Amino acid sequence: MDLEKLLSDRLAPAFAAVAGGPVDPLVRRSPRADFQSDAALALARRLGRPPRDIAAAVLAHAVLDDVGVSAEVSGPGFLNLTVADGALADLVAGLAGDARLGVPPTATPQTVVVDYSAPNVAKEMHVGHLRSTVIGDAAVRLLEWLGHRVVRVNHLGDWGTPFGMLIEHLIDLGEAEAAQNLSMGDLDTFYRAARITFDADEAFRERSRLRVVALQGGDERTRRLWRLLVTQSERYFLTVYDLLDVTLSAGDFRGESTYNDLLAGVVDDLDRRGLLVPSDGAECVFPPGFSGRDGEPLPLIVRKSDGGYGYPATDLAALRQRLGEWGATRLLYVVGLPQRQHFAMVFAVAEEAGWLNPPARAEHLGFGSILGADGRMLRSRAGESVKLVGLLEEAVARATDLARSRNPELDAGTADEIGRAVGIGAIKYADLSVDRSKDYVLDWERMLALDGNTAPYLQYAYARIRSVLRRAGTAARPDAPVVIAQPAERALAVELLGFAGVVGEVERNLEFHQLAGYLHRLATAFNAFYEHCPVLRAPDELRESRLLLAELTARTLRQGLHLLGIRTLERM
Ligand code: ARG
Repeated sequence: MDLEKLLSDRLAPAFAAVAGGPVDPLVRRSPRADFQSDAALALARRLGRPPRDIAAAVLAHAVLDDVGVSAEVSGPGFLNLTVADGALADLVAGLAGDARLGVPPTATPQTVVVDYSAPNVAKEMHVGHLRSTVIGDAAVRLLEWLGHRVVRVNHLGDWGTPFGMLIEHLIDLGEAEAAQNLSMGDLDTFYRAARITFDADEAFRERSRLRVVALQGGDERTRRLWRLLVTQSERYFLTVYDLLDVTLSAGDFRGESTYNDLLAGVVDDLDRRGLLVPSDGAECVFPPGFSGRDGEPLPLIVRKSDGGYGYPATDLAALRQRLGEWGATRLLYVVGLPQRQHFAMVFAVAEEAGWLNPPARAEHLGFGSILGADGRMLRSRAGESVKLVGLLEEAVARATDLARSRNPELDAGTADEIGRAVGIGAIKYADLSVDRSKDYVLDWERMLALDGNTAPYLQYAYARIRSVLRRAGTAARPDAPVVIAQPAERALAVELLGFAGVVGEVERNLEFHQLAGYLHRLATAFNAFYEHCPVLRAPDELRESRLLLAELTARTLRQGLHLLGIRTLERM
């Protein structure tokens, strides 16, 4: 049971009675009691009455004792709420028997399409793709766990004019050689070499132009060579997903080319609805509310003046297909913030066209950049964009070294396992524990530290609990009576009861730093509990209860980290 919600549900009718209409009781954790409600202050302003009077009137209406909650008016008009020890104990005992740790599956399953990762063929994945992959994977895991039908879409950049040049370069290099380079992940060298020839060689440029025409015209050999580029790149991306330990697989690639046959239909439909406006030879839609710096209305270009379709048209087609064919009611796009306007315009056009109607909605989960220690965009020494795999390998190597230096007796296999779980976990957690829209600095020392709001801190807390449970010799009994006596015990109990509330909140806003912050509070509460309340040396009844609290903490940490895509270890 979610305590915050329980309290909120109990206070809401009381507030409504006093206000004569619905009021959100604004229940939150409190430094003075277990929880507090601040809603009396705003309500008092609205009603023109003293806040403490309002708070007292709400209390007079509220039914709380049957759930073991006592309340008092405090300060300028807060309501302080304290849950009785026995009531807390009962609620925690309820969690122990629940495989889902108090988090119910959703009552209203939706079809959710998550568009994430989306690297480009024959181009190295960069840190932006890392953020997209990590955030998207967390969204997929959380929504699936709650019982939604989730469709992963890897909107691979596999189409467009650069493919003329890439295919010509492939021909010059020889198929076997090119395939070898690409599947080895030498994508940047391949792309750059193609680009250099393209810029320097007029004949190559002409061949590339003709090759684009052949590709669009469905020429068989050209198509085969294009396929080769795509499959080799996909193969390489899959090795990155494997290293990154995300749930994306080969079946999730749906490249931009998939939508080619749907593009004409998009144009027809927009035309039929009278939304298409010719502009400088191109076909555009001008969604309301978008203007450029000069105040001119901004176009979304659906068909270019050369007759070709571009990125916006593909996104319109994809959106229409996801809603229409798949019946999705929630569309998520995990793409960097520089594309904010693109998505806002695509969604606006989709609404105007009548494709996107409530309750269905589309959300751009934009994110900031990863910065280097100098506070600038992350770059390699040579000034190029940083290769993603290099970053992941460095994380694993650093974590493995740290594990070895802390524990020189570790055998190589175990050290590698720890290094991988901790290194990759640290990278993901550093990303997921900050406000999504903010930039953050990639700081190895900080993200790999065993203390602070880091993956290793949480993984270590988990491993430590597992070690306590192993030493106990028996598993915690799920029906053991729960005793809440010490302040550290009640603090831990209150945290354990907060999991459902946080998961529910993140289901709505997909702000994973809230889940990360929760797990950090939980681990911290456990560490304080472990310091003040002996577990293994406690008298029998307390011992059972404390073992159960420890086990519940471990299960919650494990589940929470799993939702973030981070592994736990039995030993560290
Ligand atoms: N391939 C694009 C890039 O690398 C991202 C695509 C995002 N998804 C989408 N539906 N537009 O920037």
